[in-house]
Amino acid sequence: MQVFRTVAEVRAQSEAWRREGLTIGFVPTMGNLHAGHHALVQLARERADRVVASIFVNPTQFGPNEDYARYPRTPDSDSDGLRVHGCDALFLPSVEDMYPFGTMGCVQMHVPGITDILDGAHRPGHFNGVAQVVARLFNMVQPQLAVFGRKDYQQLKVIRYMAREMSFPVEIVPAPTLREPDGLAMSSRNQYLQGVERQLATTIHRVLLQARQRAGQGDAIARIESEARGQLEAAGFSVDYAELRRSDLSRPTDPTERGLLALVAARLGRTRLIDNLEFDDDAG
Ligand code: PAJ
Repeated sequence: MQVFRTVAEVRAQSEAWRREGLTIGFVPTMGNLHAGHHALVQLARERADRVVASIFVNPTQFGPNEDYARYPRTPDSDSDGLRVHGCDALFLPSVEDMYPFGTMGCVQMHVPGITDILDGAHRPGHFNGVAQVVARLFNMVQPQLAVFGRKDYQQLKVIRYMAREMSFPVEIVPAPTLREPDGLAMSSRNQYLQGVERQLATTIHRVLLQARQRAGQGDAIARIESEARGQLEAAGFSVDYAELRRSDLSRPTDPTERGLLALVAARLGRTRLIDNLEFDDDAG
């Protein structure tokens, strides 16, 4: 596996592969990689001739009181894992390369509507930072396809919108959420969980499964949501949202309509966790 630290290097390799007629699949990450990230690499492997992963903890998507400084950085084990899973190149841009005029002087991106709800409402500016860095990474790596996890469902929607709206010639490929055996969605932030919190964190997936079941029975949406919230709070969570949405993230009126999903963001101690569950195959 090749390791590139500058834009010039990754672009030279990307152009060389393209000249040979090889397609490039891209997996952007913030590192501290787990099996969920590795599955994205495997999916990119199946869909493209060469796979590039990036690790960049993007300062512009973290709020002032969030975990940018303490976000886990594990470059050695990350690169070992990527190599084992068949990644061809790892791109490790510096903050200076990503934002040559600084994070105050950089061109901003604002994706309207979808970035103001759910996680966007609780993390102002977060998705604009995500869109901004992903657009830059697409320009640097020049992939034909890029894989994003459904675990970050709203992020996937924001990136699809941004790529389409900006005419990026990049196919956005969604990947299923990988979970621990007890249902907890894999996340780099799970390691923040202290002691009993790890066990309590499984409540999220249980609540999501129950919401799906209740919706299938035709229970009122408001009741399903307030029960989900109540169960999370009883387990010690401070809940940012626990909601049913359509696949375009608008609010549903009928719990039995196709394409619904439930989304949760909740904090346990210092750890903020997000997860979602699509109720059927229509939740695109
Ligand atoms: P990060 O949290 O490192 O996630 C990188 C990719 O892995 C995202 O597409 C995310 O949805 C996916 N992922 C994380 N946990 C997963 C799981 N349990 N199952 C399946 N996929 C999972 O998301 C980001 O980084 C950043 O916002 C980024 C897109 C890189 C922009 O900075």
